[in-house]
Amino acid sequence: MSLDIVVVGCGGHGREVLGIIDAVNQASVGGPVWRVVGVVDDAPSETDRKRVARLGHEYLGTTAALATLPARTHVTVGIGAPAVRHAVVTRLDRYELPAAVLVHPAATIGADTHYGEGLVVFAGARITTNVTMGRHVHINQNVTVGHDCVLGDVVSLNPLAAVSGNCRVDSGALVGAGSVVLEGRHVGTGATVGAAACVVRDVPPHTIVKGVPAR
Ligand SMILES: CC(C)(COP(=O)(O)OP(=O)(O)OC[C@H]1O[C@@H](n2cnc3c(N)ncnc32)[C@H](O)[C@@H]1OP(=O)(O)O)[C@@H](O)C(=O)NCCC(=O)NCCS
Repeated sequence: MSLDIVVVGCGGHGREVLGIIDAVNQASVGGPVWRVVGVVDDAPSETDRKRVARLGHEYLGTTAALATLPARTHVTVGIGAPAVRHAVVTRLDRYELPAAVLVHPAATIGADTHYGEGLVVFAGARITTNVTMGRHVHINQNVTVGHDCVLGDVVSLNPLAAVSGNCRVDSGALVGAGSVVLEGRHVGTGATVGAAACVVRDVPPHTIVKGVPAR
């Protein structure tokens, strides 16, 4: 038996999430887990719509189409930017559709780890132990999350980010590709850590830091 799922987002992130769904289905012993009903997007480019079609999936229209889906249809928000993902999640909550948890079979999640709905974990990610993650958290390719971390809702950790043990990354924050957050540091709500930065001090809410050390 498989579950129906709709992906929000025709862009690159959404199509990478489609790849995770494929990988989950291929790794499933008892047959496919997910049946992709299609992809919705409020403003897809013609190019991205063609790319979705090349993957064999149908564009269903704008996110208004979510209102017409059967109640048990799962949804995943394939949007990388936390602020945009948050806006879509707010709309999803209105429709009361369940959000899928998608973990690529080439990722690992350790013991005593807790997460909310909508979690997406990409290939190569390593989440260790006693990690708590909120709703709609996206852990991108080859990210590491150390022991005893707490990640809030709609957090994005971009490829190759390394979040050390005992860190807190609050809701809506983005940790850029290839960056390091040193142990015990706190990244505030809605903050952005630039690509390749090294966070040595707490990052205040809604600020952008970059560089080594990050400022
Ligand atoms: C830091 C960041 C948020 C800044 O974005 P922005 O405000 O739009 O910045 P701009 O591109 O206008 O650049 C502003 C300045 O910061 C510099 N800069 C941008 N990103 C930087 C980074 N990661 N590290 C160091 N300097 C950076 C630019 O060179 C520019 O310098 P200048 O003023 O001397 O010319 C963004 O560049 C970034 O790194 N985001 C993370 C994105 C990521 O992870 N991408 C991977 C996706 S999978």
